[in-house]
Amino acid sequence: MKFFLDTANLRDIEEAASWGVLAGVTTNPTLYAREGGRLAEFHGHIQRICDICDGPVSAETVSLDRDGIILEAEELHALAPNVVVKVPVMPEGLAATKVLADRGIDVNMTLCFTVPQALMAARAGARYVSPFIGRFDDISEDGLEHLGNMIVALNNYDFGHPIEVIAASVRHNQHVVAAALMGADIATVPFGVLEKLVKHPLTDRGLESFLADWEKVKNA
Ligand code: G3P
Repeated sequence: MKFFLDTANLRDIEEAASWGVLAGVTTNPTLYAREGGRLAEFHGHIQRICDICDGPVSAETVSLDRDGIILEAEELHALAPNVVVKVPVMPEGLAATKVLADRGIDVNMTLCFTVPQALMAARAGARYVSPFIGRFDDISEDGLEHLGNMIVALNNYDFGHPIEVIAASVRHNQHVVAAALMGADIATVPFGVLEKLVKHPLTDRGLESFLADWEKVKNA
């Protein structure tokens, strides 16, 4: 499974890239707003992310009609070769995705919550399908069970083009572990989750004992 960062924070993206584990970035309007983003600087910000991360960088459209989505998507796609256009799964989004896929523009269909939505995203030509986990948990449903169902359903068919499942709306380590065991291609995670994923108390304890023993070796 590959790790994407779910953020618009440039420092966090730089830090994760420096670890050698960053395969891509996903952003959305909420994440950009959280960084104090302004509309006039949006395209420049996406370009800066693409300068740091050479993997796929998802930038989301906000239009609700197909023509508007296609227009935004083409502007975003022109920013950098690794921009992937993120489009919500809805009838107008599917229609736009079909056109964009035919034009060779990679689409990440987002806000996927059901098996039929995931299958339709794939049929329309989406290169990435993003099931959301945490938002199901927010309403006391098992987001991981829904993710597993979508992975199984997508694996049942050949859509004639490559598709990768991005486990999104990830809130904690267990989401990532379960997504990996289910065969999700990618987990997109907030930086705070990425930091926790690299840690374990036994790693810390092992390091402490190595350092203590090395002091003994030095003083012997
Ligand atoms: O990429 C978007 C998705 O990960 C949103 O997550 O935490 O707002 O449900 P969240």
